[in-house]
Amino acid sequence: MSKLIINGKNKLYGKIEVKSAKNAMLPLIASCVLLDFEVGFLNCSDIGDVSVMLEIIKSIGGKYRYEGDTLFVDCSSVYIPELPCDLSKKIRASVFLLGPLLARFRKVSAVTPGGCNFGDRPIGMHLDGLRKLGAEISGNEHLYLRADKLKGSKIVLPFASVGVTENLIMASCLADGETVIVNSAKEPEIVCLCAFLNRLGAKIYGAGTHKITIHGVKKLTNKITYFKPITDRIEVGTYMLAVLNTGGELEISGANFLHNTSLIKKIYNNTCKISLESDKIYLKCCGVGNALGYVKTAPYPAFPTDLQSPLLAYACSLSGKTIIEEGVFKNRFSIVNELKKMNADITVEGCRAIVNGTNRLRGAVLNAGDLRSGAGLIISALGAEGVSEISGLEVIERGYADIDKKLRLIGADVTKG
Ligand code: EPZ
Repeated sequence: MSKLIINGKNKLYGKIEVKSAKNAMLPLIASCVLLDFEVGFLNCSDIGDVSVMLEIIKSIGGKYRYEGDTLFVDCSSVYIPELPCDLSKKIRASVFLLGPLLARFRKVSAVTPGGCNFGDRPIGMHLDGLRKLGAEISGNEHLYLRADKLKGSKIVLPFASVGVTENLIMASCLADGETVIVNSAKEPEIVCLCAFLNRLGAKIYGAGTHKITIHGVKKLTNKITYFKPITDRIEVGTYMLAVLNTGGELEISGANFLHNTSLIKKIYNNTCKISLESDKIYLKCCGVGNALGYVKTAPYPAFPTDLQSPLLAYACSLSGKTIIEEGVFKNRFSIVNELKKMNADITVEGCRAIVNGTNRLRGAVLNAGDLRSGAGLIISALGAEGVSEISGLEVIERGYADIDKKLRLIGADVTKG
């Protein structure tokens, strides 16, 4: 496994550019299964999860290519509604293909998806929603779905699940009649997916609210050639927390600050000056911040669960107590044991992590258990005394393109091992 070697305490100065969001690209690529023509996605970066998703598309007969940072996806030649086991086990997002494949081929076979290993990742809500649209589903580890014709229905989600909302939107685009998804997730990535599908001729209303209505159409016929996805708000938040933890000045271009208001509200006046423009965030950070009090992660627009580990890492160096409650996943505190190796004072009680901040974190030999805890370890190592080694870089590169290069360019002492 490759690793990062970080010698901490360098302040960060410079500019970072963020590109299309991983969690927008994955459903957008899946939705191309609904099309019989090629579409180009602008401003893309080469990240692990997107590469796996593209390999899955290729394995079922689709094609993709890059021209610079434009990704072209063409699913006109997709003919195998059977998802490959090995690739599907690598990413959770393989589940996003069930809806569009079912809508196009009336059948699909797949295995339950893989993804980040932080506790149970069930897909029951995905399957229940597809059943409501008329799918017959059999199997457990190996799933077989079929539907003579998907029919619109009212679906009430027990939890505002991002992936379930996206899957059902894609499945119901071509269904007969009207589908209403109640308690739908409101994440910007869903608004982005609906904007893309509506550009193609879909009839989706209410994106970004807790009630989304889809009027099924026969086919998506508006042949657009390019689409620009939203940029990666989690990557933006990660770099914001990095410079907060080290001190320095950072300009993050491509950032839509409206997607990061929960973090901005939390850190505002915490020994940093923030200026916001339409497509950039500028941070000037000096001195150690104050503890953050109580933070709970929840569906958008609340504080995002994907920034929970990076925030927890930052909280370790703040003077005072911070309590972070994980309100989305059952067990997403894998970073805690790694941070304790750096002399962090953290206690986990159920779904809460209680952090007593100290500015005495020291470098250690660490392992990235999952994508976002790996990002958190980088944040901690950048601010710690001494050298840290973080193994599992490929896990981090699932969602952060060129993170070592980007950090070096803004003054971090980081090398790939
Ligand atoms: C998406 O995952 C993101 N992934 C995750 O980002 C993100 O953490 C999550 O949404 C929450 O914001 C992508 O978009 C590719 P959920 P998803 O369904 O859709 C439970 C990252 O680091 N649930 O919103 O899989 C589930 O266990 C990744 O970029 C069921 O119980 O998340 C969780 O407790 C990690 N049954 C809650 O819902 C289901 O069928 C929310 O999960 C589906 C979900």
